Amino acid sequence: MSGYIPHEFIDELLSRIDIVDVIHSRVPLKKAGREYKACCPFHNEKTPSFTVSPKKQFYYCFGCGQHGSALSFLMEYEHLDFVEAVESLANSLGLEVPHEQGKQGKKAATKRNRDLYDLMEEASHYYQLQLKSTPQAVEYLKNRGLDTQTSKQFGIGFSPDSWGAIKSHLSHHYTTRQLLDTGLLIQKEDTGKIYDRFRNRIMFPIRDKRGRVIGFGGRVMGDELPKYLNSPETPIFSKGTELYGFYEVRKNTRKLEQLLVVEGYMDVIALAQFGISYAVATLGTATTTEHIRQMFRAVSTITFCFDGDRAGKDAAWRAMENALPLLNDNKEIRFLFLEKGEDPDTQIRKVGKAGFESLLDSAITLTDYLVNTLQARHNISTREGKAHLLNDVGTLLKSIPESLIKEQLITTMAKLTNIDSNLIKKYKLTVQRYSHTDQRIELGQSTSCLSDRKVRLTPVRYAIALLLNEPKLVDYAENPEKIAQYPIAGVSFLAKLLEIFEEHPNLTAANLIERFRGSEYEAPLINLTKWRPKTDDKTVLQREFQDCLRQIRKKARENRLESLLHKERVTGLSPQEKNDLMILLSEIH
Ligand code: CTP
Ligand code: MN
Repeated sequence: MSGYIPHEFIDELLSRIDIVDVIHSRVPLKKAGREYKACCPFHNEKTPSFTVSPKKQFYYCFGCGQHGSALSFLMEYEHLDFVEAVESLANSLGLEVPHEQGKQGKKAATKRNRDLYDLMEEASHYYQLQLKSTPQAVEYLKNRGLDTQTSKQFGIGFSPDSWGAIKSHLSHHYTTRQLLDTGLLIQKEDTGKIYDRFRNRIMFPIRDKRGRVIGFGGRVMGDELPKYLNSPETPIFSKGTELYGFYEVRKNTRKLEQLLVVEGYMDVIALAQFGISYAVATLGTATTTEHIRQMFRAVSTITFCFDGDRAGKDAAWRAMENALPLLNDNKEIRFLFLEKGEDPDTQIRKVGKAGFESLLDSAITLTDYLVNTLQARHNISTREGKAHLLNDVGTLLKSIPESLIKEQLITTMAKLTNIDSNLIKKYKLTVQRYSHTDQRIELGQSTSCLSDRKVRLTPVRYAIALLLNEPKLVDYAENPEKIAQYPIAGVSFLAKLLEIFEEHPNLTAANLIERFRGSEYEAPLINLTKWRPKTDDKTVLQREFQDCLRQIRKKARENRLESLLHKERVTGLSPQEKNDLMILLSEIH
């Protein structure tokens, strides 16, 4: 087990390589002004929107949003984990990777998780071996028409019919705590007895985007209940963000055109066996906005394929609702409902690849689905029915971003109900039932670029963005320690960056991203790195930067003044505070 790689080494590594070379040897780049371009290797496109900035040592795709340093590129492109990516770069330079042993704090958490990944990998390996030696399980898979190659590709295994098989197998290397943390073991509440969660089940390893095993689904071979048992949420497994089969899809299809979302493990696997290698499944949960966002990073067309039963319809409606905030005119979402009693697994065995793909061609668009469903739900020959329908529409429209799709939907609704579209627009604004907090959370977690997410560009953020573009601006900043004292959100991070750039003037944005990888600062840092100033004129950038600092100072004074005045009213001030207040008041005018 490796320890931590010191950030000095990462800095050195990144300063010795050029991201342009690293990417160019895998994806040929063309020079375009100060940057380099190519068609994005992570999604399908005809005009290049994948750009590489030599200055920031950063890549970014304007189409799908993939971004990062040379290390991130290797992780994504070659499906490596962080340490492997570092090792790969180091190897190419003939450098040895130093591993520091166990540093405290944040790093300990990363290390803990890394152990959990290893643990899951070993478990998966063990289950696969068990499958080989359990004829009954092999027979079950054979009866279901699964071929060995596909079974291997998805790492299918078998958990023995025992209360302590995985426990005794993994106890040599891992603590009981770790085994409980991954959900492979359960502890009985009353007796405290600890035993294997998965017993006598066909095991489907669930992998994350990088191919690491993070959970399992286990199916009984007979009719016992529950049919499927899944890993619980764990430090490395979160159902709302993971998609079953996504890793395999990306591994097997470099240029992805579309994704197909199905309901079950066996559906993904059967489709893959029959040559439809672009299917993923949610993990027994509804499709979340985050799921859809991830898929839209890879493709612009998603088809949801659901069973024609009640549960399938409910799942489709939920998926549609959760997709609305991400709709735009470049993306397409479609729905395919199979006949009652069929699921993709049974269907493709009946009609084959071509037959299934022609079914896919017949999938209906999201807006058709929405309109049809609402129409079926309400009797629009009555005024009341129309009103109810518009009420539903209003709620849905609220979460659709301004777009042609939205306009068309309004027009369709207007025609359908014979109600003027302006009235619909106006009406929808008065419908209140929409949770704003949800949206804000999404914005916060988003990693897309500043401009299109409308993250407010505060002076602090702007100063950071400028600095990332031009680290030499650090010369125009005042003492970082002083800045860190300002009572303003985000200044401590700005101060930290200033300190780093002061000490290492030759670092690039990519170095910083690597330093803050895995920390709370990573996402905001990446967002700010994507921003590009309108001009390269150094004096303009300098002026803007200094202006930001001025605004920050002013805001700091105002905040401090406000809090002193407040304190004066509530508890009174110390002599020092009184003095500060006098100074601040005299500076104001
Ligand atoms: N599921 C689950 N828990 C259950 C039942 C289902 O988590 N008790 C999830 C599983 O991810 C499963 C999916 O829902 O793959 C779809 O369930 P279902 O349609 O019942 O099963 P199939 O995928 O069709 O599985 P099979 O073909 O093996 O019966
Ligand atoms: Mn099935």
